[in-house]
Amino acid sequence: MAEFKEAPANAPLGVKFMTWVDNRFPATKMFNEHAAEYYAPKNFNFWYFFGSLAMLVLVLQIVTGIFLVMNYKPDAAVAFASVEYIMRDVPWGWLVRYMHSTGASAFFIVVYLHMFRGLIYGSYRKPRELVWIFGCLIFLCLMAEAFMGYLLPWGQMSYWGAQVIINLFAAIPFVGPDLAILIRGDYVVGDATLNRFFSFHVIALPLVLLGLVVAHIIALHEVGSNNPDGIEIKAKKDAQGRPLDGIPFHPYYTVHDILGVAVFLMIFTAIIFFAPEFGGYFLEFNNFIPADPLKTPAHIAPVWYFTPFYSMLRATTDFMVNILAVILAVAGVLSLLVAKGRMKLIAPIGAIVLIALLKTFDAKFWGVVVMGGAVIILFFLPWLDNSPVKSIRYRPSWHKYLYGVFVIFFAILGYLGIQPPSPTGELVSQIGTLVYFGFFLLMPWWSQLGTPKPVPDRVTFAH
Ligand code: HEM
Repeated sequence: MAEFKEAPANAPLGVKFMTWVDNRFPATKMFNEHAAEYYAPKNFNFWYFFGSLAMLVLVLQIVTGIFLVMNYKPDAAVAFASVEYIMRDVPWGWLVRYMHSTGASAFFIVVYLHMFRGLIYGSYRKPRELVWIFGCLIFLCLMAEAFMGYLLPWGQMSYWGAQVIINLFAAIPFVGPDLAILIRGDYVVGDATLNRFFSFHVIALPLVLLGLVVAHIIALHEVGSNNPDGIEIKAKKDAQGRPLDGIPFHPYYTVHDILGVAVFLMIFTAIIFFAPEFGGYFLEFNNFIPADPLKTPAHIAPVWYFTPFYSMLRATTDFMVNILAVILAVAGVLSLLVAKGRMKLIAPIGAIVLIALLKTFDAKFWGVVVMGGAVIILFFLPWLDNSPVKSIRYRPSWHKYLYGVFVIFFAILGYLGIQPPSPTGELVSQIGTLVYFGFFLLMPWWSQLGTPKPVPDRVTFAH
């Protein structure tokens, strides 16, 4: 136990109170470690707003969620009506509901931008691998949270969206059909499904999400923040051991982040007050119709933040499976010709086994694998990137175009996922899926090509 400290007799009341607290709980110590004496690089740009904004949206979602639960009823017979009651009769209920529904989309916008920042500045690389992995787990958890939350209003899209996605699990060989029943708690989406999704959405997943965010920040503060130059500021310290290019997080970045919060809240409130459905992208029009198990909507599409992955699922047809088999065969032959050592044997055998598996199970199952794999591959990013420099700033210029192509195809996949299926759309999403996976799977090769620009010794910073 640390020794008890005494505040001077003439100290202000606040100081006396904090001394009393600090003798029993490390409040000041924690504040210093994580804010006042946490040295962050002085060259953060606007990309660094999105971490604190994600925390803000998390808090907003939890607070508005608590108020929604006060009037929402997780019962298939009254769930839809209880949401209408919140919207029409509960004082300020419409505001709380729109804050929560807009907040869900805002969460994904902020998190996608936050992840993209990590991608371009190489923030996932040593020593920040665990920061990234906790981030990927947060992303997975967030997707589950949003999916389960969407069932709760019990509208047509809630119902049929859940039906489509849960049925995907049934495509898994051997265990699939039983797994789908386990998730639904019934043979079709019904009251049991609503109750368990409610339980996960309001308790289980928020707890996991909060725990993961704490782990994410602890891991970040252990190694220190990266920055737009991708230079480790801990490498150059002053006599007191403080990084020369670092500034205390508090007050500099706490105040700086207020700017990001102000701009965010302006956009957020403008959407809530003027376009809460956002043209059907944030709240789908079909979801204002109560769930009807006997009437399948003509076109079922998930909310925009899932659509890039949904497109990849739809792109995985028999034709696509054949293309994948050809790609594997070519890779196998190439490794037989070019690879050295054990890989000369292992790679072609691996290719043959994978082709056999591809042809054994049907395309629907591989669609699920592709969709899941698109998220899982993110976990491996720290070990896929072989570039000698971290930040995009000092990589060969053509790398920027490659990231550009990746982003454009990701956006196209997102757009196509909202549209009804069409032959052209299918072909473009197949190309998009190949670009997405090619970007990551070929990264060990392309990331080391070209000559990087000289990396400065110290961070670049203009007042
Ligand atoms: C609830 C969601 C999340 C919250 C609240 C959150 C919070 C934060 C905060 C506050 C920071 C420090 C400030 C900043 O660098 O912007 C940070 C950094 C970071 N986050 Fe997240 N994060 C979330 C999701 C994610 C996801 C999904 C990923 C990636 C898959 C991710 C990857 C990173 C990385 C790599 C850093 C270090 C960035 C650097 O130092 O350059 N985070 N996060």
